Amino acid sequence: MKKVLVIGSGAREHALAQAFLRSEQVEQVIVAPGNDGMTDDGLRRAAVAVTDLQGLRDLAVAEAVDLTFVGNEEPLTLGVVDVFRQAGLQIFGPTQAAAQLEGSKSFTKRILDQYNIPTAQSRTVTNHTAAQAAVTEFGLPIVFKLDGLALGKGVTIVTTATQAADYLTDLYTRQPEAKLVIESYLDGVEFSIFSLVGQDGVVTHAPLAQDHKRRFDQDKGPNTGGMGAYSPVRWLSAEVRQQAIDTLVMPTIAAMAKEGTPFTGVLYTGVMLTAEGPKVIEFNVRFGDPEAQVVLPQYTGDFYQLIVDLLQDQAVDPAWQTDAVYVGVVLAAAGYPEAPEKGASVPTPSDVAPLGINYAGVKNGLASGGRVATVVAHAQDTQTAQQKVYETIDQLQLTLQYRHDIAYQAVQHEMDKM
Ligand code: AMP
Ligand code: GLY
Repeated sequence: MKKVLVIGSGAREHALAQAFLRSEQVEQVIVAPGNDGMTDDGLRRAAVAVTDLQGLRDLAVAEAVDLTFVGNEEPLTLGVVDVFRQAGLQIFGPTQAAAQLEGSKSFTKRILDQYNIPTAQSRTVTNHTAAQAAVTEFGLPIVFKLDGLALGKGVTIVTTATQAADYLTDLYTRQPEAKLVIESYLDGVEFSIFSLVGQDGVVTHAPLAQDHKRRFDQDKGPNTGGMGAYSPVRWLSAEVRQQAIDTLVMPTIAAMAKEGTPFTGVLYTGVMLTAEGPKVIEFNVRFGDPEAQVVLPQYTGDFYQLIVDLLQDQAVDPAWQTDAVYVGVVLAAAGYPEAPEKGASVPTPSDVAPLGINYAGVKNGLASGGRVATVVAHAQDTQTAQQKVYETIDQLQLTLQYRHDIAYQAVQHEMDKM
């Protein structure tokens, strides 16, 4: 029987642990550091921080872990995969060099431009004058992206010349040499594709997903880590999905190999479907959260075997279900994202049964962070899955807060077809 280590502490890592626990080969999943909501049979927590790379390696050795899966980007950009590989340990994720696809927007733009992979026109600048020149050249609206790991907070879209001038004056007064990626604005439909990439070009692509990044209904309010997601996105055609794979995902995997920094792990491609076809908005080098909570339950094969086969360059079983739609709604603390309040009560698995729940900011049974849990329902169609999840959480009368319209675009498309 196998032992798996999952690195991270959120609802995404909870969903990963559950995916491994469904494998008949897996006896135990250790999550480092995990959270207090993770109490599943066979799941154990270890108090090692995601940034303590040596501590994580020592844990994997001491526990004789067979496979490690990295949930979040921080240890990846610090080089956890390199540290594990040097110790001869089996780990799924990109090396530090390949993790630059998420860690450095200027690196990503260089790769995309050099290999002619469709994306927004962009310029990387390091001073106020060059920044202003790029604004004049690209026109409005325009997108500013601070280089480096931004944890979702590095992107600013402005629609007027005054807003653009104010943003740049403020930034370059504080940091005269700030590295800024300036991009033309892409108009269209946004979706995500998660590709599990193995050692030598073996890949399986999960069904498409759509996240809801704004805090409030109708996509209003501040950006968050994600307030809910659904998958598959049936109203986007198989042709669109295939076009995104053929023109964006596979050329990027090939480019990374050619650059001498081959990519292994989860490649998360943020796509904008524009009038000119799909274009890359961004890459991440791990599953999305909350997208993982709706994508992982769709793998009907042995998830442990899938990851091992990818790492060992074997043909994989692409056993993604197609019969149901999964809808996940994030329960967040009041005040999230600016000032989340602690201490609200958190629903238990039996409160939401038979629906699934994945925990994030939970301590001693109470809310302790911004995003607290994701509740997931599935059904034959999106509208039924959406109804199921809201019937369950609405009757709990929570002080935790959530959006009431997750998957609205898909539901609208289903209604239009009736
Ligand atoms: P990122 O951190 O690069 O994913 O950007 C966060 C969000 O900003 C994306 O999910 C998009 O909704 C939006 N965004 C980023 N770049 C662009 C762009 N060039 N045009 C339009 N929207 C963008
Ligand atoms: N849900 C968006 C992300 O994980 O980056």
